[in-house]
Amino acid sequence: MKKVLLFGDPGIDDAIAIIYALLNPQIDLVGVVTGYGNVDEKQATDNASYLLQLAGRPDIPVIRGARGPFTGELVTYYPEIHGPEGLGPIRPPENLVTNVQDYRTVFDLISTYKKELTIVDVGRSTSLATAFIIVGPEKVNQVDSIYLMGGNFLYPGNVTSVAEANFHGDPIATDLVLEKGRNITVVPLNVTNTAIISPETVNLISRYPYNPFSSLIKPIIEFYIDAYKKLIPGLNGAPMHDVLTLFALLNPQAFQSISRRVRVDASELSRGRTIADFRAKPEAQPPESLERILLQYDYNAFLADFVSTMTN
Ligand code: BDR
Ligand code: CA
Repeated sequence: MKKVLLFGDPGIDDAIAIIYALLNPQIDLVGVVTGYGNVDEKQATDNASYLLQLAGRPDIPVIRGARGPFTGELVTYYPEIHGPEGLGPIRPPENLVTNVQDYRTVFDLISTYKKELTIVDVGRSTSLATAFIIVGPEKVNQVDSIYLMGGNFLYPGNVTSVAEANFHGDPIATDLVLEKGRNITVVPLNVTNTAIISPETVNLISRYPYNPFSSLIKPIIEFYIDAYKKLIPGLNGAPMHDVLTLFALLNPQAFQSISRRVRVDASELSRGRTIADFRAKPEAQPPESLERILLQYDYNAFLADFVSTMTN
Protein backbone atom coordinates (compact mmCIF):
# COMPACT_ATOMS: atom_id res chain seq x y z
CA MET A 1 0.00 0.00 0.00
CA LYS A 2 1.36 3.45 -0.95
CA LYS A 3 0.98 6.39 1.38
CA VAL A 4 0.17 9.37 -0.83
CA LEU A 5 0.16 13.10 -0.12
CA LEU A 6 -1.80 14.54 -3.06
CA PHE A 7 -1.38 18.16 -4.19
CA GLY A 8 -4.11 19.33 -6.58
CA ASP A 9 -6.65 21.89 -7.75
CA PRO A 10 -10.02 20.08 -7.92
CA GLY A 11 -11.17 20.52 -10.75
CA ILE A 12 -12.85 17.53 -12.36
CA ASP A 13 -9.91 15.24 -13.15
CA ASP A 14 -8.38 16.11 -9.76
CA ALA A 15 -11.70 15.24 -8.09
CA ILE A 16 -11.79 11.91 -9.93
CA ALA A 17 -8.17 11.35 -8.84
CA ILE A 18 -9.15 11.96 -5.19
CA ILE A 19 -12.07 9.53 -5.59
CA TYR A 20 -9.73 6.98 -7.25
CA ALA A 21 -7.27 7.34 -4.36
CA LEU A 22 -10.03 6.87 -1.79
CA LEU A 23 -11.47 3.82 -3.53
CA ASN A 24 -8.20 2.10 -4.43
CA PRO A 25 -7.08 -0.38 -1.76
CA GLN A 26 -3.46 0.10 -2.85
CA ILE A 27 -3.49 3.78 -1.82
CA ASP A 28 -3.47 5.22 1.69
CA LEU A 29 -4.32 8.90 1.16
CA VAL A 30 -2.74 10.81 4.07
CA GLY A 31 -3.64 14.35 3.00
CA VAL A 32 -4.85 16.56 0.15
CA VAL A 33 -3.08 19.88 -0.39
CA THR A 34 -5.36 22.25 -2.29
CA GLY A 35 -4.18 25.15 -4.42
CA TYR A 36 -5.33 27.54 -7.14
CA GLY A 37 -5.48 26.31 -10.73
CA ASN A 38 -8.66 24.95 -12.25
CA VAL A 39 -10.54 26.94 -9.57
CA ASP A 40 -9.41 29.24 -6.77
CA GLU A 41 -7.79 27.84 -3.64
CA LYS A 42 -10.91 28.30 -1.44
CA GLN A 43 -13.10 26.44 -3.92
CA ALA A 44 -10.48 23.69 -4.32
CA THR A 45 -10.46 23.32 -0.51
CA ASP A 46 -14.27 23.06 -0.36
CA ASN A 47 -14.35 20.55 -3.20
CA ALA A 48 -11.72 18.29 -1.61
CA SER A 49 -13.50 18.58 1.76
CA TYR A 50 -16.79 17.58 0.14
CA LEU A 51 -15.28 14.43 -1.39
CA LEU A 52 -13.72 13.44 1.95
CA GLN A 53 -17.04 14.10 3.67
CA LEU A 54 -18.84 11.83 1.19
CA ALA A 55 -16.20 9.19 1.84
CA GLY A 56 -16.69 9.50 5.60
CA ARG A 57 -12.96 10.26 6.01
CA PRO A 58 -12.71 13.31 8.30
CA ASP A 59 -9.38 11.85 9.46
CA ILE A 60 -7.73 12.90 6.16
CA PRO A 61 -6.64 16.53 6.37
CA VAL A 62 -7.29 19.04 3.61
CA ILE A 63 -4.30 21.37 3.70
CA ARG A 64 -4.57 24.86 2.30
CA GLY A 65 -1.94 25.54 -0.34
CA ALA A 66 -1.06 28.43 -2.65
CA ARG A 67 -3.53 31.07 -3.82
CA GLY A 68 -1.48 32.19 -6.80
CA PRO A 69 1.91 31.88 -8.48
CA PHE A 70 5.14 33.27 -6.99
CA THR A 71 5.24 36.00 -9.61
CA GLY A 72 1.93 37.36 -8.33
CA GLU A 73 0.15 37.79 -11.66
CA LEU A 74 -3.60 37.31 -12.02
CA VAL A 75 -4.69 33.70 -12.26
CA THR A 76 -6.94 32.36 -15.02
CA TYR A 77 -9.42 29.70 -13.89
CA TYR A 78 -11.18 27.20 -16.17
CA PRO A 79 -14.97 27.18 -15.49
CA GLU A 80 -15.66 26.18 -19.10
CA ILE A 81 -13.81 22.88 -18.55
CA HIS A 82 -14.39 22.17 -14.86
CA GLY A 83 -17.66 24.02 -14.17
CA PRO A 84 -18.26 27.22 -12.19
CA GLU A 85 -17.33 25.54 -8.87
CA GLY A 86 -14.94 22.97 -10.32
CA LEU A 87 -17.15 19.89 -10.05
CA GLY A 88 -19.15 20.34 -13.27
CA PRO A 89 -22.83 20.72 -12.37
CA ILE A 90 -22.26 19.78 -8.70
CA ARG A 91 -21.94 22.37 -5.95
CA PRO A 92 -20.62 21.30 -2.51
CA PRO A 93 -23.17 21.85 0.29
CA GLU A 94 -22.93 24.87 2.62
CA ASN A 95 -22.68 22.78 5.79
CA LEU A 96 -19.40 21.03 5.02
CA VAL A 97 -17.79 19.00 7.77
CA THR A 98 -14.14 19.89 7.25
CA ASN A 99 -10.74 18.94 8.57
CA VAL A 100 -8.97 21.89 6.99
CA GLN A 101 -5.43 22.50 8.22
CA ASP A 102 -2.77 25.04 7.48
CA TYR A 103 0.33 24.41 5.41
CA ARG A 104 2.49 23.26 8.36
CA THR A 105 0.71 19.91 8.23
CA VAL A 106 2.70 19.18 5.04
CA PHE A 107 5.93 19.27 7.07
CA ASP A 108 4.40 17.10 9.82
CA LEU A 109 3.33 14.48 7.29
CA ILE A 110 6.78 14.42 5.65
CA SER A 111 8.48 14.10 9.06
CA THR A 112 6.09 11.39 10.19
CA TYR A 113 6.20 9.15 7.13
CA LYS A 114 9.51 10.03 5.44
CA LYS A 115 10.47 7.18 3.05
CA GLU A 116 6.99 5.63 3.35
CA LEU A 117 5.46 8.67 1.65
CA THR A 118 5.02 9.55 -2.03
CA ILE A 119 4.13 13.09 -3.07
CA VAL A 120 1.86 13.30 -6.10
CA ASP A 121 1.31 16.81 -7.50
CA VAL A 122 -1.45 17.15 -10.09
CA GLY A 123 -1.87 20.92 -9.82
CA ARG A 124 0.18 24.08 -10.22
CA SER A 125 3.59 23.61 -8.56
CA THR A 126 3.51 26.63 -6.22
CA SER A 127 2.31 24.75 -3.12
CA LEU A 128 4.94 22.01 -3.42
CA ALA A 129 7.72 24.47 -4.26
CA THR A 130 6.81 26.29 -1.03
CA ALA A 131 7.87 23.21 0.97
CA PHE A 132 11.28 23.18 -0.74
CA ILE A 133 11.72 26.87 0.06
CA ILE A 134 10.57 26.76 3.69
CA VAL A 135 12.07 23.54 5.04
CA GLY A 136 14.69 22.91 2.34
CA PRO A 137 15.33 20.10 -0.15
CA GLU A 138 16.96 17.76 2.36
CA LYS A 139 13.81 17.55 4.40
CA VAL A 140 11.38 17.25 1.47
CA ASN A 141 13.59 14.68 -0.27
CA GLN A 142 13.15 12.35 2.70
CA VAL A 143 10.03 11.11 0.91
CA ASP A 144 10.26 8.07 -1.35
CA SER A 145 9.47 9.84 -4.61
CA ILE A 146 7.60 12.68 -6.28
CA TYR A 147 5.17 12.40 -9.20
CA LEU A 148 4.33 15.53 -11.20
CA MET A 149 1.50 15.68 -13.72
CA GLY A 150 2.52 18.25 -16.26
CA GLY A 151 4.57 19.29 -19.23
CA ASN A 152 4.69 18.15 -22.84
CA PHE A 153 7.74 16.92 -24.71
CA LEU A 154 7.99 17.47 -28.49
CA TYR A 155 4.21 17.56 -28.33
CA PRO A 156 1.66 20.44 -28.41
CA GLY A 157 0.60 22.17 -25.21
CA ASN A 158 -2.94 22.58 -23.95
CA VAL A 159 -2.99 26.16 -22.62
CA THR A 160 -0.62 27.62 -25.20
CA SER A 161 0.88 26.09 -28.31
CA VAL A 162 3.98 25.17 -26.31
CA ALA A 163 2.83 24.71 -22.71
CA GLU A 164 0.72 22.46 -20.50
CA ALA A 165 -1.52 24.06 -17.84
CA ASN A 166 0.18 22.89 -14.61
CA PHE A 167 3.71 23.78 -15.70
CA HIS A 168 2.49 27.00 -17.34
CA GLY A 169 0.66 28.13 -14.18
CA ASP A 170 3.87 28.81 -12.23
CA PRO A 171 6.91 27.85 -14.32
CA ILE A 172 9.30 29.24 -11.71
CA ALA A 173 7.81 26.96 -9.06
CA THR A 174 7.86 23.91 -11.35
CA ASP A 175 11.47 24.51 -12.34
CA LEU A 176 12.41 24.86 -8.67
CA VAL A 177 10.73 21.55 -7.78
CA LEU A 178 12.48 19.84 -10.72
CA GLU A 179 15.82 21.28 -9.70
CA LYS A 180 15.63 20.65 -5.96
CA GLY A 181 13.54 17.48 -5.91
CA ARG A 182 14.93 13.94 -6.16
CA ASN A 183 13.42 10.80 -7.62
CA ILE A 184 10.87 12.70 -9.69
CA THR A 185 8.61 11.12 -12.29
CA VAL A 186 7.07 13.52 -14.82
CA VAL A 187 3.71 12.45 -16.26
CA PRO A 188 3.25 14.72 -19.30
CA LEU A 189 0.47 15.32 -21.82
CA ASN A 190 2.28 12.81 -24.09
CA VAL A 191 0.66 10.09 -21.98
CA THR A 192 -2.22 11.81 -20.17
CA ASN A 193 -3.89 13.21 -23.31
CA THR A 194 -4.80 9.68 -24.37
CA ALA A 195 -6.10 8.56 -20.94
CA ILE A 196 -9.56 9.02 -22.39
CA ILE A 197 -12.71 8.06 -20.54
CA SER A 198 -15.65 7.83 -22.94
CA PRO A 199 -19.40 8.22 -22.29
CA GLU A 200 -19.68 4.45 -22.76
CA THR A 201 -17.20 3.86 -19.92
CA VAL A 202 -19.10 6.31 -17.70
CA ASN A 203 -22.35 4.42 -18.40
CA LEU A 204 -20.67 1.14 -17.55
CA ILE A 205 -19.39 2.52 -14.22
CA SER A 206 -22.74 4.04 -13.31
CA ARG A 207 -24.46 0.66 -13.68
CA TYR A 208 -22.70 -0.37 -10.44
CA PRO A 209 -23.86 2.33 -8.03
CA TYR A 210 -22.34 0.95 -4.85
CA ASN A 211 -19.85 3.51 -3.56
CA PRO A 212 -20.29 6.90 -1.81
CA PHE A 213 -19.45 8.82 -5.01
CA SER A 214 -21.90 7.07 -7.33
CA SER A 215 -24.27 10.03 -7.67
CA LEU A 216 -21.34 12.30 -8.54
CA ILE A 217 -19.16 10.34 -10.94
CA LYS A 218 -21.56 10.34 -13.91
CA PRO A 219 -22.62 14.03 -13.91
CA ILE A 220 -19.14 15.41 -13.34
CA ILE A 221 -17.41 13.25 -15.94
CA GLU A 222 -20.23 13.92 -18.45
CA PHE A 223 -19.74 17.67 -17.93
CA TYR A 224 -15.99 17.25 -18.56
CA ILE A 225 -16.63 15.17 -21.69
CA ASP A 226 -19.01 17.84 -23.07
CA ALA A 227 -16.40 20.53 -22.38
CA TYR A 228 -13.71 18.57 -24.25
CA LYS A 229 -16.11 17.97 -27.14
CA LYS A 230 -16.23 21.74 -27.64
CA LEU A 231 -12.45 22.03 -27.38
CA ILE A 232 -11.60 19.10 -29.64
CA PRO A 233 -14.48 18.34 -32.02
CA GLY A 234 -14.82 14.63 -32.68
CA LEU A 235 -13.23 13.52 -29.40
CA ASN A 236 -15.51 10.92 -27.79
CA GLY A 237 -14.44 11.32 -24.17
CA ALA A 238 -12.08 13.32 -21.99
CA PRO A 239 -8.54 12.79 -20.65
CA MET A 240 -8.08 11.87 -16.99
CA HIS A 241 -4.64 13.48 -16.64
CA ASP A 242 -4.54 13.38 -12.86
CA VAL A 243 -5.91 9.85 -12.50
CA LEU A 244 -3.30 8.48 -14.91
CA THR A 245 -0.65 9.95 -12.61
CA LEU A 246 -1.89 7.82 -9.68
CA PHE A 247 -2.21 4.81 -11.99
CA ALA A 248 1.45 5.36 -12.99
CA LEU A 249 2.51 5.30 -9.36
CA LEU A 250 0.79 1.97 -8.80
CA ASN A 251 1.63 0.39 -12.18
CA PRO A 252 5.16 1.28 -13.26
CA GLN A 253 5.30 -1.84 -15.44
CA ALA A 254 2.57 -0.40 -17.69
CA PHE A 255 4.79 2.54 -18.77
CA GLN A 256 7.82 3.20 -20.92
CA SER A 257 10.05 6.02 -19.79
CA ILE A 258 13.24 7.88 -20.51
CA SER A 259 15.59 9.58 -18.01
CA ARG A 260 16.46 13.16 -18.78
CA ARG A 261 16.95 16.39 -16.92
CA VAL A 262 13.76 18.46 -17.25
CA ARG A 263 13.64 22.24 -17.10
CA VAL A 264 10.73 24.64 -17.51
CA ASP A 265 10.99 27.90 -19.40
CA ALA A 266 9.65 30.96 -17.57
CA SER A 267 10.24 33.45 -20.40
CA GLU A 268 7.31 35.45 -21.81
CA LEU A 269 7.62 33.96 -25.28
CA SER A 270 7.42 30.31 -24.29
CA ARG A 271 6.26 30.32 -20.69
CA GLY A 272 5.78 26.83 -19.28
CA ARG A 273 7.52 25.03 -22.15
CA THR A 274 9.24 21.85 -20.93
CA ILE A 275 12.77 21.26 -22.08
CA ALA A 276 14.69 17.98 -22.11
CA ASP A 277 17.57 16.84 -24.23
CA PHE A 278 16.19 14.15 -26.54
CA ARG A 279 19.23 13.94 -28.77
CA ALA A 280 20.68 10.47 -29.26
CA LYS A 281 23.70 11.58 -27.24
CA PRO A 282 22.33 14.00 -24.64
CA GLU A 283 24.66 16.21 -22.63
CA ALA A 284 25.88 14.32 -19.58
CA GLN A 285 24.08 15.25 -16.35
CA PRO A 286 24.64 14.15 -12.77
CA PRO A 287 22.37 11.12 -12.16
CA GLU A 288 20.56 12.79 -9.24
CA SER A 289 19.42 15.61 -11.54
CA LEU A 290 17.60 13.28 -13.94
CA GLU A 291 13.84 12.92 -14.02
CA ARG A 292 11.93 9.88 -15.25
CA ILE A 293 9.67 11.06 -18.10
CA LEU A 294 6.78 8.77 -18.98
CA LEU A 295 6.28 8.59 -22.74
CA GLN A 296 4.07 5.58 -23.50
CA TYR A 297 1.76 3.26 -21.64
CA ASP A 298 -0.71 0.43 -21.87
CA TYR A 299 -4.07 2.20 -22.25
CA ASN A 300 -6.11 -1.01 -21.88
CA ALA A 301 -4.49 -1.69 -18.51
CA PHE A 302 -5.40 1.86 -17.40
CA LEU A 303 -8.98 1.52 -18.60
CA ALA A 304 -9.52 -1.82 -16.86
CA ASP A 305 -8.03 -0.48 -13.64
CA PHE A 306 -10.12 2.72 -13.83
CA VAL A 307 -13.39 0.82 -14.23
CA SER A 308 -12.61 -1.64 -11.47
CA THR A 309 -11.46 1.07 -9.03
CA MET A 310 -14.41 3.37 -9.68
CA THR A 311 -16.84 0.52 -9.09
CA ASN A 312 -15.17 -0.60 -5.84
C1 BDR B 1 -3.74 19.50 -15.99
O1 BDR B 1 -4.27 20.82 -15.87
C2 BDR B 1 -5.47 20.80 -15.15
O2 BDR B 1 -6.44 21.54 -15.78
C3 BDR B 1 -5.88 19.37 -15.01
O3 BDR B 1 -6.53 19.16 -13.78
C4 BDR B 1 -4.57 18.63 -15.09
O4 BDR B 1 -3.96 18.55 -13.82
C5 BDR B 1 -3.74 19.09 -17.44
O5 BDR B 1 -2.99 19.97 -18.21
CA1 CA C 1 -5.16 19.17 -11.83
